[in-house]
Amino acid sequence: MDSINYLHTIGYAIISHDCFIADATGNMPNGIKNDADWRYFQSELDNSDLLLIGRKSFINFQNIKRNRLIPTSKIKDIEIEKNDLCFFNPKNISIEDAVKVFLPETKKIAVVGGNKVYELVFNSIQFNEFHLTVAHSFYINEGILLNDNIKSLDDIFDLMNKNKLTVHKEKELDKNATLYIFKKY
Ligand SMILES: NC(=O)c1ccc[n+]([C@@H]2O[C@H](COP(=O)([O-])OP(=O)(O)OC[C@H]3O[C@@H](n4cnc5c(N)ncnc54)[C@H](OP(=O)(O)O)[C@@H]3O)[C@@H](O)[C@H]2O)c1
Repeated sequence: MDSINYLHTIGYAIISHDCFIADATGNMPNGIKNDADWRYFQSELDNSDLLLIGRKSFINFQNIKRNRLIPTSKIKDIEIEKNDLCFFNPKNISIEDAVKVFLPETKKIAVVGGNKVYELVFNSIQFNEFHLTVAHSFYINEGILLNDNIKSLDDIFDLMNKNKLTVHKEKELDKNATLYIFKKY
């Protein structure tokens, strides 16, 4: 399936060396957090029109005033709560239709996770880019993986490849973190 060509969709994630986005309690441990990545991530979000964000991430960052679209199974189809906040049920309304209803001028969507949200995008509008930071000196061992079907960085590269995403740029953000920018080919 091709991406929806009027939307440019970019995924963002930081993972541990062993490919987890969160620990077994569902939270991001301090060891995975990285200042250089956070600055990069925020500057990217500043250049996005809309965030596609999971419920827990939304609750953790409620004070961040950005345009947010949140998938949930708890409503019928779509509910605009504020001018910068909208919930939708992907079972009954597609991401592109939700965007049309909520913020039709949207061009650039930042998909900030977690793993169910990434999966939703892989299985629907797809990613034009994925910006993946690997905190390579930090291990989580047990928790939430970037994707349920992956166990290693090689598996992630395979997943990206299956979705026609290839590494366009690799950058050392600091001594603990490397950024891989995947782009659609
Ligand atoms: N390391 C990273 O880069 C990174 C990035 C993001 C998040 N995280 C971590 O991952 C943890 C989980 O993230 P998260 O809860 O924000 O996101 P998530 O696990 O992807 O999504 C969680 C919620 O979003 C809704 N949802 C997602 N996909 C859906 C679908 N296809 N249909 C209907 N509803 C859907 C559901 O809400 P309802 O229960 O309302 O139905 C679901 O409970 C967070 O605690 C955070 O610590 C890490």
